[in-house]
Amino acid sequence: MSNNGHESAPMRPLDFEYRSVEELQERAQSFKQLMQQRRTVRDFAPTPVPASVIEDAIATAASAPSGANMQPWHFAAVQSADVKRKIRIAAEQEENEFYSHRASDDWLEALKPFATDAQKPFLETAPWLIAVFARKFTINEAGEKLKHYYTPESVGIATGLLIASLHNAGLATLTHTPSPMGFLKDLLGRPAQDRAFLLLVTGYPSEDAVVPDIEKMPLHEVMSRW
Ligand SMILES: Cc1cc2nc3c(=O)[nH]c(=O)nc-3n(C[C@H](O)[C@H](O)[C@H](O)COP(=O)(O)O)c2cc1C
Repeated sequence: MSNNGHESAPMRPLDFEYRSVEELQERAQSFKQLMQQRRTVRDFAPTPVPASVIEDAIATAASAPSGANMQPWHFAAVQSADVKRKIRIAAEQEENEFYSHRASDDWLEALKPFATDAQKPFLETAPWLIAVFARKFTINEAGEKLKHYYTPESVGIATGLLIASLHNAGLATLTHTPSPMGFLKDLLGRPAQDRAFLLLVTGYPSEDAVVPDIEKMPLHEVMSRW
């Protein structure tokens, strides 16, 4: 479908705020400063976070663009201590395997700066875990398989918005990918067509939280202009 093929599809006026160049510059800079403060946190405080904050962040994620607007995602928000404990037990089982057998030497070497290991206490300490699922297809009411397009790209973009939204609200996040993470689908009762994409741990950081002393590449290395 071309973007000009307006004739048959219903359209509505765009809700858009036109801003001056000065405003663009000011807003781009202040959002950059906000986002450059984001760090992956691995030590969380048990302080509760209201469900409404998590719901707003997930609604923000679900506003993301997606291939043919298929919205091929599901976000399972876990607050239950019982379910968090089950997730921790299953994740630590997989991670034990990962660190002792599955990971290549190169992979373990790449993980060294982060001082991670198979113990995942944050899966119980943090007030919320958000399991993100990606969906390759849906079954419509007629029982037909409806294929989704660009599922990983779409879910990755939605997850980026989720992380940005939680950070903007004032929470820390950990992007966690226990490998493999098929157990999430079983524990959280997702249908066959869903695949666990990642587990986002969120809450306040613990007061003594530290983060790896690492840097981002300078702009000139990650950007080219033509
Ligand atoms: C797809 C993805 C998977 C990740 N998986 C893990 C993980 O399983 N455990 C972990 O401690 N950190 C994980 N991270 C966090 C990265 O290590 C972290 O983003 C990176 O070191 C940069 O640090 P920063 O997020 O503080 O900028 C993951 C990040 C991404 C994007």
